[in-house]
Amino acid sequence: MTSPRAFHKGGIAILDYGSQYTQLIARRLREQGIYSEIFPPEAPETQVFASAPRGVILSGSPHSVYEPNAPQLPAYLLKRDVPILGICYGMQLLAHTFGGGVSGAARREYGAAQLQIVPCPLFRDLPDQLAVWMSHADHVERLPAGWRAIGSTANAPYAAISDPEGRRYAVQFHPEVTHTIHGAAILRNFAVHICGCAPDWTPAAIIDESLAALRAQIGAEQVILGLSGGVDSAVAAALLQRAVGDQLTCIFINTGLLRKGEPESVVQTFQGQLGARLVAVDASEAFFEALAGVTDPEQKRSIIGERFIRAFESEARKLGKVKFLAQGTIYPDVIESGGGLGSAARTIKKHHNVGGLPADLAFELVEPLRYLFKDEVRRIGAALGLPDSIVWRQPFPGPGLAVRCLGEVTFERVERLRAADAIVLEELARADLLRGETSQAFAVLLPTRSVGVMGDGRTYQEVVAVRAVRTEDFMTAHWARLPYDVLARISERIVNEVQGVNRVVYDITTKPPATIEWE
Ligand code: XMP
Repeated sequence: MTSPRAFHKGGIAILDYGSQYTQLIARRLREQGIYSEIFPPEAPETQVFASAPRGVILSGSPHSVYEPNAPQLPAYLLKRDVPILGICYGMQLLAHTFGGGVSGAARREYGAAQLQIVPCPLFRDLPDQLAVWMSHADHVERLPAGWRAIGSTANAPYAAISDPEGRRYAVQFHPEVTHTIHGAAILRNFAVHICGCAPDWTPAAIIDESLAALRAQIGAEQVILGLSGGVDSAVAAALLQRAVGDQLTCIFINTGLLRKGEPESVVQTFQGQLGARLVAVDASEAFFEALAGVTDPEQKRSIIGERFIRAFESEARKLGKVKFLAQGTIYPDVIESGGGLGSAARTIKKHHNVGGLPADLAFELVEPLRYLFKDEVRRIGAALGLPDSIVWRQPFPGPGLAVRCLGEVTFERVERLRAADAIVLEELARADLLRGETSQAFAVLLPTRSVGVMGDGRTYQEVVAVRAVRTEDFMTAHWARLPYDVLARISERIVNEVQGVNRVVYDITTKPPATIEWE
C-alpha cells in the first residue's frame, strides 16, 4: 500500500500532543496559505522533516509534563536550528526542557483573558492588549535562563515567553481558537516573519502539485475509483481525471438507497460534463434483497458495506488489469487513524463510507486528498469546475437512506422516505437555509404508525421526522432553529404529497446526547 508523501515544501510541522485543538492549528495556518502537517511526537525525524518545514509548533495536551510517561520534546528538535512555537502544554514542555519551572495551578484557568504584550516579532502589528483564550491547569512559574516574558495576564506573569535568540516562542493561551481574537495573526507572524514561510498554499498550487504527484505515482497504469456522489470521492475523481484522463475508470454503484435525483446527477456530471469513463451499475435489487427483514442498525451497516464491496469487486474484475484503487480519504481521517496521542476515539457507530473500500482488494491505493481538510477539498472541487450541487453537498452517510428508514428497509418505504426527504431539501433550499443555517438536514421515516384523519376518513399511517442541525465538526450539534413557516410548508407538503404519511415531527435534540443520524 503506497501513497505519495506530502509534496508541499517549506511549511510548518505540528507535533500533536493530544490536544482537542491540534487540527485547528493546521487549519488556521492553511486558511492563510501556509502549508502545515500534523505528526505524532514520536514520529521519526526523517518523516517530520520530509517536506522541509521551516518551523515547528508544539500543540497542547491533556497531559502534565511531570507525569511519569509524559510525552517529551523529541531530541532531534534540540539539535536543529528551527524556530519552535509551543502552545499550552507545548509551552510547558519548552520551559521544562530548557530548565524553567512548571507547576500545577490550584485550579484550571479556562476562558477569556486580557494579554498585555511586549512588542516582538510574534506580536508584530498587533494591539498592546489582546483578548486571548486560556484552557490549562499547569503553568510556567520560573523562566529558563535567558528567556523573557513577552506577554502577561492578570493570572499569569508568563503567559507568553521567548528565548534569547528569538527562535523559540511559547504561549500559554490558544491562538488557534477563534476566541483568541488575533490568534490567526499570531500564527501567521510565527510562520511568515519568524520562520520565513511563504503563503503559497493556494488552490492553484494544491492542484498543480497534486497533479504532478498523481502522475508520478500512477505512470501509465489503470486506476479505478468508487464514486459515491459525495464531495470527497467527486473531487478525487476530478483530480484524477485531470491527471491521468482515460486511465481512470469511475465505478458508481446505485444502491437504491440514495437521495432523489442523485444517481442521475452523478452520471450526468461525471460522464456528461467531465467526460470521465464511468461504469454505472444499478445494484438496488441486490441491496433490498440483502436487507429484507433486517431492522438492527449495525446489521444494516454491515450488510450494506459487504454488498457494496461485492458489487464493486465484480465490476472491477470486468475491467481487466487494474493496479490502483483511488479513495477519497481526507486529512482528518488520516490524523484520526494514526495521528496524535488523542486519537483513540471510541467507536459509537460503525462508520462505513461507501466511497471507501478495504485495502485488501489487491490494489495499491491512491489517495489524492490525503493531505487536505474538507474546506480545501471544496475549494479545489470548485476550482476544478465541479458544480455547486456537488461541491457544497451536505454530508450523506455511506449506508444511505437505509439508516434513515427505521425498521425494515423495503423499496416502498425507501421511496416514501426519498420523497419526504426531497421536500425537506427543496423547501430549505427555497428559503436559502441549506448553506450555513443548516449543516445537515434530512427526513427520517419512523418505525411506527399513528392515527390521523383525512377528508372524512380515519388514517393509520407512517410518521416522518425532520432533522436539521447546525454544527462545525459534526462531533457536537445544535438543532437548527428553522422558521415556523418553513417547518409548516415542509409538513404540509409531506402529508399532502407523500402517500402513506399522515404525521410530521421535528427533532429538537442536540448531539450529544442524541447523534445526528437516528441509527
Ligand atoms: P452521527 O449520526 O454519528 O453522524 O452524529 C455524524 C456525521 O457522520 C455521518 N455519518 C456517516 N457517514 N458513513 C459515513 O460516511 C456512515 O456510516 C455514517 N454514519 C453517520 C452523519 O451523516 C453525520 O454527518
